[in-house]
Amino acid sequence: MSKKVHIKTYGCQMNVYDSKRMADVLKPHGYEVSESADDADLVILNTCHIREKAAEKVYSEIGRLRATKDEMAAEGKNMFIAVAGCVAQAEGPEMMRRAPAIDMVLGPQTYHRLPDMLKAAEEQRTGGRKSARVLDTDFPVDTKFDHLPTDSDFDGPAAFLTVQEGCDKFCTFCVVPYTRGAEYSRPVADIVAEATRLVAKGVVEITLLGQNVNAYHGDDGQGGTASLGALIRALDAIDGLERIRYTTSHPRDMDDELVFAHRDVASCMPYLHLPVQSGSDRILDAMNRKHTREEYFAVVDRLRAARPDLALSSDFIVGFPGETDEDFEATLDLVRRVNYAQAYSFKYSPRPGTPASVIEDQVPEDVKSERLARLQALINEQQVAFNEASIGKTMDVLLEREGKMPGQLIGRSPYLQSVHVDVSKADNALDAAGDKPYSGYMGKMVRVMIVEGGPNSLKGELVSTLH
Ligand code: SAH
Ligand code: SF4
Ligand code: F3S
Repeated sequence: MSKKVHIKTYGCQMNVYDSKRMADVLKPHGYEVSESADDADLVILNTCHIREKAAEKVYSEIGRLRATKDEMAAEGKNMFIAVAGCVAQAEGPEMMRRAPAIDMVLGPQTYHRLPDMLKAAEEQRTGGRKSARVLDTDFPVDTKFDHLPTDSDFDGPAAFLTVQEGCDKFCTFCVVPYTRGAEYSRPVADIVAEATRLVAKGVVEITLLGQNVNAYHGDDGQGGTASLGALIRALDAIDGLERIRYTTSHPRDMDDELVFAHRDVASCMPYLHLPVQSGSDRILDAMNRKHTREEYFAVVDRLRAARPDLALSSDFIVGFPGETDEDFEATLDLVRRVNYAQAYSFKYSPRPGTPASVIEDQVPEDVKSERLARLQALINEQQVAFNEASIGKTMDVLLEREGKMPGQLIGRSPYLQSVHVDVSKADNALDAAGDKPYSGYMGKMVRVMIVEGGPNSLKGELVSTLH
């Protein structure tokens, strides 16, 4: 009899990828993915620990799930609650204590052992306990990548593929080196095989994932290691793979091979997320980012020389301990000089166990809020300007999902902008009969002329269908 698993994903794209792998590993054990937690035999919360609120959301979700679990128990049904991901890794035993409704806690490197953990949980529950107590937050020597199946059903033309995991950089504010462990790169052959399978299913765009993706140095099968630039070239050879993206990169690891991939490899998209965090050398040093602002500008210059239309995005932290008005002004100045297509910014959040959390000179909350608002206003201005500059241009858009209006599909431009395209009036052989006459466009690459540009999305008119 088939069972239901509901997986709720928080945090970064790597968690999205991992959630799919967990679904894959459970499938042969009779578990079907369910969109809802009601009546699920197993609920997995795949959590994120990057900032305070991320973990708090998980605890309130567990509270809600406990009510469902109790209702099901009253009807003689069993629900297992599992917590996976970075909160699980960082606070596993404490979570078990704080939330007795949790049956299983598993860290990001143990997902291939999920079926064993379920068996252990089932045995404990038949022993009459209200909740099981299974905890696995190891960093096993044999990696999960050697064991996790990758046979997910096709769900769209754009897919994620984890190529690197973990981080050895130890920025003083960040939990990732503790929750994901040491840097590990998958062998080139495994990645090419997985990408080939995805393309055979209809995927045309792949985003290579890694906490430090450009530190990639995977086994090249010839006794050496391949850089990310070399990996991109290897993937470009796969027939039918039209777009390659990668995230997240560190400015220190932007080597020439990768910079030149942006110049030479047509499928390597002209968009790069290159977090800088701060524009002040003093703060960059305190963050242990291992580069100066001038070095960051130099990387950006090299990239733009290789690929003049490259669009950049970044992450910023405001209110890092000891950040003065002058430091913050230096961040605004960096943003003005680089000119981003988009960027994310966050208030510094002290993470337990990280060096920055015990620095005395924490910045008051109201100062953080005020700085964040100013930074976001500037970023927003640049994003609007970037989108408005797209008006009148013709670009390729990969249509990925339905919009709110009838006949409207939403896709991504090469620069990762959301583009809304009305395909309902298109006179094209792709039009299928039935109540969704535009369904033939879904998952396709089309050429559009951009006619409107707002802060968060563009509107395009169909010029032609490419594939
Ligand atoms: N590997 C990436 C970032 C991973 S975390 C890099 O090297 O940049 C994603 C983003 O969350 C970071 O870029 C940072 O801006 C933010 N972040 C991480 N720790 C944080 C903290 N303690 N407080 C606020 N923001 C944080
Ligand atoms: Fe965190 Fe720094 Fe590693 Fe990025 S490079 S994951 S911010 S420690
Ligand atoms: Fe969050 Fe872990 Fe990703 S802390 S951002 S889920 S690596």
